[in-house]
Amino acid sequence: MEFQDLISKRYSVRAYKKDPVEKWKIEKILEAARFAPSAANRQPYKIIVIETEGRKEELKRIYSAEWFVQAPLIVGICAIKNIAWSRKDGKNHADIDCAIAMDHMILAATDLGLGSCWICAFDVEQARRILGIPPEVEPVAFTPVGYPDDLPKEKRRKPIEEIVCYGRWQ
Ligand SMILES: Cc1cc2nc3c(=O)[nH]c(=O)nc-3n(C[C@H](O)[C@H](O)[C@H](O)COP(=O)(O)O)c2cc1C
Repeated sequence: MEFQDLISKRYSVRAYKKDPVEKWKIEKILEAARFAPSAANRQPYKIIVIETEGRKEELKRIYSAEWFVQAPLIVGICAIKNIAWSRKDGKNHADIDCAIAMDHMILAATDLGLGSCWICAFDVEQARRILGIPPEVEPVAFTPVGYPDDLPKEKRRKPIEEIVCYGRWQ
C-alpha cells in the first residue's frame, strides 16, 4: 500500500471478526518491529504474542473492553529499561523505542488488511500477573490483531498550524 494511503487507512479498530490471522502475516508484523529504529540500537523490548482462544476471561482482566479479546491475537510490547539507552540527563528512552516498534507493527498490520488499536489504559499489575512479566520489565502497550468488523471513523485532528511551528516555539 502506498504510504499516504496506509497512514490514512489506519484507525483504531474496536470490533473484530473471529477469522484467524495467517501465520505469515504475524511474522511480517513481528519483522516490522524488528526493523524499527531504537536509541543506540538497543532494542530494549520484548514482544508478547497472545492467542485469545480459551483465555478471554483471563485476558479481559488486563483490559476489560469486550473487543480487546474478540480478535484471535493480542500483541503486547514490554520495555526492558535497564538495557535501554539513557541520555546524559538520565532520560531513559525505552518507552520511545517501544512506541516506535509498536507503531511499525500497527502500520504493518494495516498494510496486511488487519485491524489494531493502541491500548495503554490497561491494568499493569494484571498484565504482569497474567503474562508473567518480571518486575524489572514494564508492559507499555497492547493491541488486538485481527480482521476489522467495524468501519473507519472520520479522522478528527487538530489543524496543522496548531501542532507545527517553524524556527522556534510560538
Ligand atoms: C499511546 C496511545 C494509547 C492509547 N490507548 C488507548 C486505550 O487504552 N484504549 C482505546 O480504546 N484507545 C486507545 N488509544 C487509541 C486512541 O484513542 C486513538 O488512536 C485516537 O483517538 C485517534 O483515533 P484513530 O486511532 O482511530 O485515528 C490509544 C492511542 C495511543 C497512541
